[in-house]
Amino acid sequence: MSTAQINPSILSADFARLADEAAAVRGADWLHVDVMDNHFVPNLTLGLPVVESLLKATETPIDCHLMIEEPDRWAPQYAEAGAGSVTFHAEAAAAPVRLARELRAQGARASMALKPATPIEPYEDLLPELDMLLVMTVEPGFGGQSFLDIMLPKIRRTRELIAKHGLELWLQVDGGVSASTIERCAEAGADVFVAGSAVYGADDPAAAVRALREQAQGVVDASSWGCAH
Ligand code: DX5
Ligand code: ZN
Repeated sequence: MSTAQINPSILSADFARLADEAAAVRGADWLHVDVMDNHFVPNLTLGLPVVESLLKATETPIDCHLMIEEPDRWAPQYAEAGAGSVTFHAEAAAAPVRLARELRAQGARASMALKPATPIEPYEDLLPELDMLLVMTVEPGFGGQSFLDIMLPKIRRTRELIAKHGLELWLQVDGGVSASTIERCAEAGADVFVAGSAVYGADDPAAAVRALREQAQGVVDASSWGCAH
């Protein structure tokens, strides 16, 4: 049986109060940290020093989403710093297999992300090297964008490939995930849900996390892919 996990994205939090904002979502499964370098995406956020400080400031494990060029060079440092999960983009990685193995060797969960226009099929043989696959449901770069329904077939096909190979791979969705879209994602096969504005825009972020998790878990439990596990 799959468990639905909710990862609040601190991109929608107050960057001057990150420790408090991490505490505001206590009970979340992971804290999703968006690292952007202004090259891979047209936005700049934070880097390794901030992640290192955040790791000391919260007990919630950190899920680093690296929207950066040259992840082969930079991603292992996030694993070494103690991020529990490190996601690099398929479009930016020069040697994804080597990189995934390096992340695992550092003790992190290795994860690969796909932008909306990147298909899953060329990566089928790489899936056993990964602990999580992230299907972006907006163009990466900014919080608060509308969920792309056209990504649902890719989520479904990815879930089918995971089942076909009998893998214990988590399937994450990121972008526009909210109370009105999370059930569609779960129904298609996602089990890890990133939510930025839907959590930090709520009056009670921790309650929003609980409500989203309950909503998603209900669908996962009822779905054929969830029961197959
Ligand atoms: C977008 C980031 C997301 C973003 C999601 O490039 O990867 O993690 O914070 O924000 P919402 O949930 O508001 O779409
Ligand atoms: Zn993200």
